[in-house]
Amino acid sequence: MRILVTGGTGYIGSHTVLALLEAGHDVIVVDNLYNSSPEALRRVGELAGRTADLEVVDLTDESALEDVFARHHPESVIHFAGLKAVGESTRIPLDYYYNNTAGTISLLRVMQRSGIRSIVFSSSATVYGEHNPYPYMEHMEIGAMNPYGRTKEQVEDILSDVAAADPEWRVALLRYFNPVGAHPSGRIGEDPQGIPNNLVPFIAQVAVGRRERLQIFGDDYDTPDGTCLRDYIHVVDLAEGHVAALEYIAGHPGTHRWNLGGGSGTSVLEMLHAFEKAVGRELPYEFAPRRPGDLPAFWADASRAKADLEWSVTRSIDEMCRDHWRWQENNPNGYAG
Ligand code: NAD
Ligand code: WQD
Repeated sequence: MRILVTGGTGYIGSHTVLALLEAGHDVIVVDNLYNSSPEALRRVGELAGRTADLEVVDLTDESALEDVFARHHPESVIHFAGLKAVGESTRIPLDYYYNNTAGTISLLRVMQRSGIRSIVFSSSATVYGEHNPYPYMEHMEIGAMNPYGRTKEQVEDILSDVAAADPEWRVALLRYFNPVGAHPSGRIGEDPQGIPNNLVPFIAQVAVGRRERLQIFGDDYDTPDGTCLRDYIHVVDLAEGHVAALEYIAGHPGTHRWNLGGGSGTSVLEMLHAFEKAVGRELPYEFAPRRPGDLPAFWADASRAKADLEWSVTRSIDEMCRDHWRWQENNPNGYAG
């Protein structure tokens, strides 16, 4: 198939473009390079032995997007493009609603006019909010707690409304848990700009000497070691989940929701110690106050993806840390060199 991938130069997008090329698909990437580098795609091309086309276009620019569709004739879309920092979304909510929600509406209008009705969307476990018991299951009522999460919820609603109005639409809503790790080659990986918000990129920058020590937000949660539990998933497992979802919806119209996670929780301290094992030395850390908005624990019930997509995670916490560390050690300053 010819797949148009929005946000395809970003962290999860670049790994998915590689998985698509390896599965024999042709790929067109649309990205405004706001949070990524074209170098990622160049390296994906090296790894795959063939390249994806890159169109530097902002999703909110409907006419530029229409032109891309007219020139490339994609058959399906995987939609990663978006802003993703929870804290930032509370400070500049309008930018989040415009970029993530209005950007998706622009994409869907162009798809509709171009006759493309198949889309895989990057949603997030954050849509489950704070009231659901874990493990989270796809049938649970959702209710995000911040503007970022609400953009995910809005786009889920818009996509399911669009699919309800026209039985030709095929929609996959993929709710990711906590993606970490990198391609085992160490050539592509996560390259956060500024101070990393997420745990594993922060640990990796401590390990490579860019940050002094990790602060662990909270040691008094009601969990086995007092730190929060999350469902970390290797980014290559996640990328493979997209290929499986894309192939599934080709034969199944309508809206489908799948958790993409491993199905168990790992604590912040366990993650730190796994990373120390990968690096081969202890890393400095201190306990700090709880981070506002953090939930003590959650993970996925991953059984629906296993039943429908025949997909489940195959890579361990140790592999996530080893691969993340290989990428960080080989590229201490990310793609900037
Ligand atoms: P990323 O920032 O690395 O990738 C997103 C890409 O989208 C970037 O390359 C950016 O330049 C591009 N982009 C943003 N707005 C755009 C626009 N208006 N037009 C064109 N391009 C635009 O992020 P990621 O970690 O790869 O996340 C990909 C998707 O997965 C996002 O939608 C994110 O919300 C979602 N997600 C991420 C996580 C996570 O922890 N990384 C978890 C759950 C869901
Ligand atoms: C994990 C744990 C922190 C950094 C976020 C988004 C979510 C999704 C994935 C997009 C927590 C602790 C972290 C640090 C720490 N993204 N931590 N010190 O919060 O589970 O999820 O990313 O959809 O929407 O909210 O991930 O990696 O930020 O935190 O102690 O410097 O690590 O408190 O317990 P989170 P995270």
